[in-house]
Amino acid sequence: MLRRPPFERISSSAADRARRLLGRAFGPSKLLVGAEACAAHGGDESDADPVAPDAVVLASSADDVALALAVAAEAEVPITPRGAGTGKSGGCVPVAGGIVLSTLGLRSIVEIDREELIAVVEAGVVLADLHAAVEAEGLFYPPDPSSLASCALGGNVAENAGGPRAFKYGVTRDYVRGLEVVTMGGARLVTGRRTQKGVTGYDVTALLVGSEGTLAVTTRATLRLVPKPPAVATLLALFADVRASGRAVSAIIAAGLVPRCLELFDAGTLEAVRGRGLPFDPRAGAMLLLEVDGDPAGCEVALEHVGGVCADAGAIEVLCAQDAAQRDRLWDARRQLSHATRAMARHKISEDVVVPRTRVADLLAEVEAIAAATGVRMLTYGHAGDGNLHVNLLWDDPDDAARVEQALERLFRAVVVMRGTLSGEHGIGVTKAEFLPLEQGDELIDLQRRLKAVFDPKGLLNPHKIFPRRAHGSC
Ligand code: MLT
Ligand code: ZN
Repeated sequence: MLRRPPFERISSSAADRARRLLGRAFGPSKLLVGAEACAAHGGDESDADPVAPDAVVLASSADDVALALAVAAEAEVPITPRGAGTGKSGGCVPVAGGIVLSTLGLRSIVEIDREELIAVVEAGVVLADLHAAVEAEGLFYPPDPSSLASCALGGNVAENAGGPRAFKYGVTRDYVRGLEVVTMGGARLVTGRRTQKGVTGYDVTALLVGSEGTLAVTTRATLRLVPKPPAVATLLALFADVRASGRAVSAIIAAGLVPRCLELFDAGTLEAVRGRGLPFDPRAGAMLLLEVDGDPAGCEVALEHVGGVCADAGAIEVLCAQDAAQRDRLWDARRQLSHATRAMARHKISEDVVVPRTRVADLLAEVEAIAAATGVRMLTYGHAGDGNLHVNLLWDDPDDAARVEQALERLFRAVVVMRGTLSGEHGIGVTKAEFLPLEQGDELIDLQRRLKAVFDPKGLLNPHKIFPRRAHGSC
């Protein structure tokens, strides 16, 4: 783990007061107070230290969410919303203790409107279940973070989740038309619209999407759908090294081609995939996984185009997935990369930096240079088409934490110099909060703090996230 000083926990008397009020508001089936049960709701999939809350509310309705937020306000204790806990930046870690509010119990797909191309879903719906339900109707909901089999829509909205298909289709925010949320204290808001167009008032929906659970708690979302593409085709291009694959990414973009996915694997992550029974050419030191969709004839043409560009850029081999089973095996291996790379060392940090798409090759070169200069093992894979790469830092010896911190800061500084951004899809959370000033000026950070205070004047909703610590420890 990196060295991050813990936040001060709420006092035991405040925790007792919260538990007493929650005990009056919720029956035992919706309230957890045992140490073990609370500890199970204290972490996510980042390297942030888990923190056990003092109580967990298992909400199963918007009324429960409102009640929990009202109790937290009355008891004046922090409350941290939580979906499936698959986040990658500590966003749902209750760093100061207090209450965790789980919205996984709100799990209804309320409506799929085939004519308006809309789905209305509750926050606890698992993304893969929504995919299956809309695809059964001939429709498509594109966002596809790798955790899709377990992540929940509420968390996707909080983090503005992306995934490989974002290259063509965009991210969660591009599909959220409106939200039902509850703010601190229990007030309910209905934001946005059902219609295709609409400019009434401020775009509060867009503000809430990606606000990392710091402004309000989502209970329901109205989502835009698109028709399901009739055909999909998948292609692999193997390269001698990661720089050659980076050049191919630039060439594909320069040619104006828009495959729906354009994923990159460097030598280390290619090795992890080989370990999952995909024995690629041993000469390959990098790989691109590309996918096109549309009508079958258009797919064929698009596949030939992207394959041709990869060959021209020096690919050692270009292979098409022959059937759905092969496609599934490839994507399964890609989606497991996060866990597979975690298993490679005792400690791992996975970043999700973004650079302008024309600078992917530069970013890859920079990662190599940082790894060489600091001696930290670094692996890179991810959504190269968006310029959004998961740079993983791996280490075993706790004494190496200082070098990892150095490598991380060098990476973030280099990304900002390239006019990139610190996070493309995992959010700032608690793990990157101290780095926010590298990218954003004091005035902008201050404006955002004031916005937070409008929604949550006492700073009780998911405190200490996104913004750096202040000297006196307030959020
Ligand atoms: C992914 O693309 O696999 C996810 O965003 C998770 C990650 O590897 O960091
Ligand atoms: Zn990703």
